[in-house]
Amino acid sequence: MIDKDSIVKDLASDKRHLEPIIERLGLEKQWEGSIEEACINNSANPDFVIQILNTFDEQGYFPKYELWNFPLEYILEYLRKTHDYYLNKRLPEIEQSLHFFKEQFLGDNSLHLILTKLFSNYKKDLSEHIQNEEEILFPYIDELLKGDIPLNMKSYSIETIISEHEDVEEDLEQIRNIIVKYSKTAEDILPFRIFLHQLNIFENDLCKHALVEGQILLPRALELEKKIKGVQ
Ligand SMILES: [Fe+2]
Ligand SMILES: [Fe+2]
Repeated sequence: MIDKDSIVKDLASDKRHLEPIIERLGLEKQWEGSIEEACINNSANPDFVIQILNTFDEQGYFPKYELWNFPLEYILEYLRKTHDYYLNKRLPEIEQSLHFFKEQFLGDNSLHLILTKLFSNYKKDLSEHIQNEEEILFPYIDELLKGDIPLNMKSYSIETIISEHEDVEEDLEQIRNIIVKYSKTAEDILPFRIFLHQLNIFENDLCKHALVEGQILLPRALELEKKIKGVQ
């Protein structure tokens, strides 16, 4: 398990899958000191950072109890940074691989068109999902944290959100399966293999993201909302 004394630079080089998480948490991946020192330097909470890193380091591990006990503001900030990372880094990188694939694949051009279409539809759905959370859900929770429900959001409820919150990561898994089925002629092309690898990593990332939203953020916001509505 990763702990406060783990060296950031070693983690980033020995565990490449943690590199994007380290960046997202605002830590310098070349930092030669411990996580604790890096956090102090960045005004981050080392205990929270360690829980998030361990969430991503171990398959099937989700420290629900530990994450539940951090201030909801930490969870919101982390989720906002994650959205930003998806939209401005992860999705453009995957599109870049598709572009390289087009340049190097000499077979039927329709394969590239199909992949581009599938991926751009997925990107559109994910972007809308994120936009919805960023523009409505998260600001609503910001208000709940201040102990208030704004007048123009009185009809809004966390319970409805919970019932409607879709699993965008499951959509990606389906798309990846379709892509694998379609693409037997391309599997020797390096950019294509990179593209599939990126989709796989993204799928795992989204899966943890959905757990943080579904098992921590939403139930805690629901508790808060009930408390506020109970006294209003
Ligand atoms: Fe999200
Ligand atoms: Fe979500």
